[in-house]
Parts: sequence; structure tokens; C-alpha cells
Amino acid sequence: MQEKHDIGNLFNRIADTYDTLNHLLSFNMDRYWRKKAVKRLQPCNTLLDVATGTADLSIEILRQNKARHIIGTDISHAMMQKGIQKINRRKYADRISLLYADASQLSFEDGSFDAVTCAYGVRNFSDCQKGLKEMYRVLKDGGQLLILEFSYPDNACIRKLYNCYFTRILPYIGRKISKDKTAYSYFCQSVKEFIWGQDMTQTLEHIGFKSAKYHPLTFGITTIYTATK
Ligand SMILES: C[S@@+](CC[C@H](N)C(=O)[O-])C[C@H]1O[C@@H](n2cnc3c(N)ncnc32)[C@H](O)[C@@H]1O
Repeated sequence: MQEKHDIGNLFNRIADTYDTLNHLLSFNMDRYWRKKAVKRLQPCNTLLDVATGTADLSIEILRQNKARHIIGTDISHAMMQKGIQKINRRKYADRISLLYADASQLSFEDGSFDAVTCAYGVRNFSDCQKGLKEMYRVLKDGGQLLILEFSYPDNACIRKLYNCYFTRILPYIGRKISKDKTAYSYFCQSVKEFIWGQDMTQTLEHIGFKSAKYHPLTFGITTIYTATK
């Protein structure tokens, strides 16, 4: 388990190249995955986007007009700074605000939000259970939870190819472009060690979420999780 400040520092170091590498390493699929995930949201008033990073999910939510007001939280100032630049360029500053906040200690009242989202964030939390419990606490009764996270393909052949790409090619390109020696190896390791599919929906239901479901995308490389409170 990585400490919170280590994770925050890691994302501070790679913030400049984060978006470029996301699009490059996923062959632009990350944009499609966020779009598909946001399509599953019902339009709502207030939404919290935990581990918002450079705000790509929050921006997609507004683009699809799925929330009136969004608060995005993160523990990396540099990632959020990139996000703020994009929000300003798109003139969304009156509808998206970004705040420094640790997912395991959110400063919002119980039941503050109609929806809580988190894209590629939960596996980075130093205490995932605590983060998920906080997401549950700040959600209104009947509110929607949407999580997007990496997972593993079921098909053995595709899993083999994916593993090869993931453990050899991706860390190499990540290292070359970000100029960071460890970030992209950590990234692969964190996906390998994290739960997915039914294990994740069971974890969500154990915390108290209802109707937890998982929806694999692109052979199961990534998975959308939905649930309600
Ligand atoms: C892989 S990025 C995902 C960013 C964005 N949601 C996206 O879709 O591209 C993971 C983000 O989680 C943030 N993060 C990690 N641990 C966190 C925590 N405990 N609380 C809040 N954010 C956290 C990191 O700083 C980073 O910006």
C-alpha cells in the first residue's frame, strides 16, 4: 500500500504528460471509456468527482449535460492545475470547482451529493475501503455511484497479449515520455494487485451500496461499476 503523499507526489511528477500518455497508451480508448461510463449516469444536480485528476471525467459529464454542478477532488495539485486550465478553456468554471481533498477524509456533510463518480482513482487510494465508505457517506439516499477502473480480460489469449503490453511496452513508453523512472511501473503493478468484477461489486455491497453491477468494456480491459445508495 502506497502512502497518500507518495501517490500525490507521483501524480505531481507526471501531471505534464499525463493526458498525452493516457491517450497515446490507450490508443485514445480512454476517451471512449469515459464517454461510455458517463452515458450510464442519470442527469442530476450535484455531483462529486473523486480523484478528478486533470478533470477529464468531470468535463465529459458536463459535455453530456449529466450534472448541474460538479466538485472534483484530488490530492495532486499539479494534476488539478492541468484540470483547471482545461475547465477555463471550455468556459466551465462556473459549473466545475476543484478542491484538494483526500478521498478517505472528505469534508462534506453526509448525503451532500446526488451522484459520486471516480475514474481510475480507487486503486490508487492508500486505503480503498475508507475511500469507498466516504463516497457512500457523502452520497444522498437513492444517489448514484459510478466507478471506472482497469480490470483484466477474461479471454486467456487476450489476457496474455494485454499482459505483455502492460508489463513491457507500456512502462517503457511511459518512462520515456514522462521521464519518470517509477510511475508507469507502479501503474501496472497497481492494476495487477487491484480487485475487479464481482469482487468489486461484492466490496461495494458490503459497504452498503445497493444494486452494484459491473459492465466490462473492450474485452474487460476496463470496467464500469454502477450502484446506488
Ligand atoms: C489515474 S489518475 C485518474 C484521474 C482522472 N480521474 C482520470 O480519469 O484521468 C488517479 C488520480 O487519483 C488521485 N488520487 C490518488 N489517491 C487519492 C486520494 N486518496 N484522494 C484523492 N485523490 C487521489 C491522484 O492524485 C490522481 O490524480
